[in-house]
Amino acid sequence: MAPGCDDTLQDGFCDFSHVHRVGVIGAGVAGLQVAEQLSLSGIECVLFEKAGDVGGVWRQNYADFGLQVPKELYEFPSFPFPAEYGSFPKGPQVQEYLCSFARAKGIYAMTRLRTAVLAMVPRSGGSRGWCVHFQTEGKDASEEDFDFMVVATGMYGTPLVPSVPGMENFHGVTMHAEKFHEKSMATGQKVIVVGGGKSAIDCAVAAAKVAESSTLLFREVHWPVPRYLLDLVPFKWGTYSRFGHATLPMHWDLSCMQRCLHRLAAPLKWLWWRTVELMFRFQFRLSGDFVPTARLEHDLFTGGQILSYEFRDMLRARKMSAQKGAIARFTETGVVLADGSEMQADVVVFGTGFTKSYSYLDQRLRSQLSREDDGLYLYRNMFPTKVLDLCFVGSEVSTFNNILTQGLQALWLRHVLTGHVSLPSVEAMDLVVERERSWKRSWMPKKGDRAAILQLHKMTYHDQLCSDMGVNPRRKGWNLLAEAFAPYSAADYADLFPSDQGANAPAAKMDACRDLRIGAVAVVLIITLLAVVLALVASAGSMKVASIAGAIVLATPTLLDVAHRRGIELKRVASFSLSRRALPRSPLMSQMTDL
Ligand SMILES: Cc1cc2nc3c(=O)[nH]c(=O)nc-3n(C[C@H](O)[C@H](O)[C@H](O)COP(=O)(O)OP(=O)(O)OC[C@H]3O[C@@H](n4cnc5c(N)ncnc54)[C@H](O)[C@@H]3O)c2cc1C
Ligand SMILES: NC(=O)c1ccc[n+]([C@@H]2O[C@H](COP(=O)([O-])OP(=O)(O)OC[C@H]3O[C@@H](n4cnc5c(N)ncnc54)[C@H](OP(=O)(O)O)[C@@H]3O)[C@@H](O)[C@H]2O)c1
Repeated sequence: MAPGCDDTLQDGFCDFSHVHRVGVIGAGVAGLQVAEQLSLSGIECVLFEKAGDVGGVWRQNYADFGLQVPKELYEFPSFPFPAEYGSFPKGPQVQEYLCSFARAKGIYAMTRLRTAVLAMVPRSGGSRGWCVHFQTEGKDASEEDFDFMVVATGMYGTPLVPSVPGMENFHGVTMHAEKFHEKSMATGQKVIVVGGGKSAIDCAVAAAKVAESSTLLFREVHWPVPRYLLDLVPFKWGTYSRFGHATLPMHWDLSCMQRCLHRLAAPLKWLWWRTVELMFRFQFRLSGDFVPTARLEHDLFTGGQILSYEFRDMLRARKMSAQKGAIARFTETGVVLADGSEMQADVVVFGTGFTKSYSYLDQRLRSQLSREDDGLYLYRNMFPTKVLDLCFVGSEVSTFNNILTQGLQALWLRHVLTGHVSLPSVEAMDLVVERERSWKRSWMPKKGDRAAILQLHKMTYHDQLCSDMGVNPRRKGWNLLAEAFAPYSAADYADLFPSDQGANAPAAKMDACRDLRIGAVAVVLIITLLAVVLALVASAGSMKVASIAGAIVLATPTLLDVAHRRGIELKRVASFSLSRRALPRSPLMSQMTDL
């Protein structure tokens, strides 16, 4: 037992040996990965999903929705996206991919579809765990016991529609963005879309293609991020690399040396972000009300929106409009804005974001969770420290690569529940939570879900999870150039995740990778040494030869790294397309193994 565990709560966090059966609420990207990981350790998992299929937000959403990042930045580490989907898969393709993951990993067999969790109460009789009350469509409510519960209900499951005076008298249609399923709902209509986030912009653009008019009505603009910086460099090189990460507001979890470096570099960081703002203003032709007032490096932490140029171009071509303002009240035929002006409308779409519901917990448990007005602060964004045998995966965290974040969370949870990672004392966990809370409140824009927001700081979060699990967080191996400047994606973590090939495959794969790496390091060292010697000799004589030698020294490790990674990637894709063919529907339970 870890030191510091001296009462029931602390004992509880130090020992999860009672956990054999886990209930998971939600079969979205997060729930699926929890089921994959826990079942690999022999833990029985039951997923409760109130909808008719797995997939969560990808099952159905607003018209034309899809990935805002290229697919290599949104894939399961152990299950690459099929090549035929193109760079930015649309919603239905993402859903198809998620279903194929669930099929290949045998997760459908663990999932109770059309079954909503209504409530959960601590087990009676002194046993640890929960009694879960649930109801399957068309059947009576029922209850079952679980040793541990995982809440994987997502960040965006409860739509937020502000209540506006006069709404009930409006003769047109109002809906939340997630219900604007088809563009045809706007055909020939006067549409107003409320909000300045990604959903609102996408809905206004979709509506504009068929509507009589489409107006985006926002109260605050946010910085758009282009797919290519200066139309040349994919944005991931800036936002998904350690270099990009180092330019962000300083994280609380840094060493003394790192803090000093951040402070010394503060003027450079400031200059960097002002330059990037100019670049984005130029790329999106932002002026007037469309120039955000918040600093870009802060504004990215309100949600973030990666945009193509469709919105910009349609505005410039006057195929749609956008204006700053807020609805004061509805009339029968439209809305009156706060400044007194009137707008006619047939359809009003609210792209006004989401809220949270914890209705499955009773009042006492909810107050033990201590949710505040900027969200629920948890240890590692997963564990509440006042409630035992409950954790949140994916539902209290938001990053720029959610699928990977949730994958790492699921892996981390598996390590905790199987005793491979010990949680610190409750006091130490509370301290971490407190440091994170005050750090966020010191600079991050206030939002109802600020506690969950990590966005670009995902890098440090992923590092924390890896370090907790005793895994090297630096995933680029020996190539320091790549470590500093190359984007991080799910592929960098692939060897931490079990493959379909059976119990010994991960270890065998890791061994093979290690051998390959050692060989590659040797080759690089030899070539680099030779090149350095050549450069030294040549620099005394010819400038031209010296430059070539210098270029070789710089380029060799990177080229070798690219080739090496490409090789691993090809092997990964080949092995999984093979396994998809071989194991289309086999239940994972038969491949169970311990860590
Ligand atoms: C339109 C849209 C586009 C997005 N694009 C990106 C992107 O490009 N990149 C990115 O990183 N992230 C993106 N996100 C964020 C996205 O939410 C996450 O990437 C991820 O899909 C969330 O998965 P989840 O499993 O946590 O939650 P969800 O997908 O919301 O799944 C939760 C599941 O829980 C179920 N559930 C809830 N309550 C109950 C209950 N009481 N009983 C039973 N079942 C219940 C729900 O039915 C749902 O299926 C996007 C989000 C939206 C809305
Ligand atoms: N991959 C994709 O294509 C994609 C698509 C959609 C969403 N997402 C992700 O999903 C998350 C949610 O995005 P979202 O756009 O749905 O929500 P969001 O980012 O929370 O944005 C909500 C917007 O509504 C505005 N708003 C809230 N309440 C309002 C009110 N009462 N009156 C007027 N305006 C109001 C907010 O204004 P303020 O800014 O002033 O608060 C904000 O602009 C984000 O992380 C996003 O990146 C991704």
